[in-house]
Amino acid sequence: MNAAGNTPVLLCGNFEAQEHQAWLSALSLALPDVDWLDVTTARLRAGEVQVAVVANPPLGSLQGLPELRLVHSLWAGVDRLLADPSVPAHLPIVRMVDPAMTAAMVQTALWAVLALHRGYFVYGQHQRQARWLPHAQLRADEVSVLVLGEGVMGHAVRAALAAQGYAVTSWRRDGAPLARVLPQAQVVVNLLPLTAETRGLLNADFFAALPRGAGIVNLARGAHVVDDDLLNALQSGHLAHAVLDVFNTEPLPPAHPYWQHPRVTVLPHAAALTDERSAATVVAKNLRAFWRGQPMPHLVDRVRGY
Ligand code: GLV
Repeated sequence: MNAAGNTPVLLCGNFEAQEHQAWLSALSLALPDVDWLDVTTARLRAGEVQVAVVANPPLGSLQGLPELRLVHSLWAGVDRLLADPSVPAHLPIVRMVDPAMTAAMVQTALWAVLALHRGYFVYGQHQRQARWLPHAQLRADEVSVLVLGEGVMGHAVRAALAAQGYAVTSWRRDGAPLARVLPQAQVVVNLLPLTAETRGLLNADFFAALPRGAGIVNLARGAHVVDDDLLNALQSGHLAHAVLDVFNTEPLPPAHPYWQHPRVTVLPHAAALTDERSAATVVAKNLRAFWRGQPMPHLVDRVRGY
């Protein structure tokens, strides 16, 4: 099948109606020769559908499509997709790597690290108490930051922090033992993929290995963190502050202690939203290459889990 004529492509995900419309418009603009089908219409044309473009799709969405040859994720993290046993194991999956999303992640990481380093979260609380209390100002090179993850985003965040002068190191799961790097890490920025090995990595042992007063920035997945362990480490004063963008349950339930915690900053999984316009351009480039028989970039390795 080639891109000329109307090629049927399944577009499915865990979308709100408005979001679905935004994706349809952006993708239709980027790939005008495609018929964008939903799960129901794709099954009616099952013999023709070779490509699916998905955003965290509900379990079983890709079932009943025997001709499927490629899945393109609109999400950077594919943990939900890999957890779906109905997604055939041989199917190549392309992860979203979008420069606009990487830039947004860099901005959030910079903001969080700067705010932890310079005490801006503390000043925010002091303002509410009309407290005028300047505190010591460290230079960036006196603050050691550990970036967990050396993927596209981990690299970009590390480079941006280094450019600000931070003493930054990074870690990958198959690199140096964590025990060697944690005792120096005053701020930890998590950008790991969620896999069987990284689930629950940020637990009591992890926090205990950090120096007293360390800060945590979780921009990856909620399941990397054992919430009770984090709350205990904050409660005991061992950790100073946590900036959390992702949670074990999303949306974060209204009664969750993170919401009211004075030393937790909550973001609504918004550190780096996918920008439909730039992501659609990425999808168009990759699908055109696929239809020309060219190799796909950023393919997920099922064994590694990302
Ligand atoms: C967002 O969390 C993503 O994985 O794209």
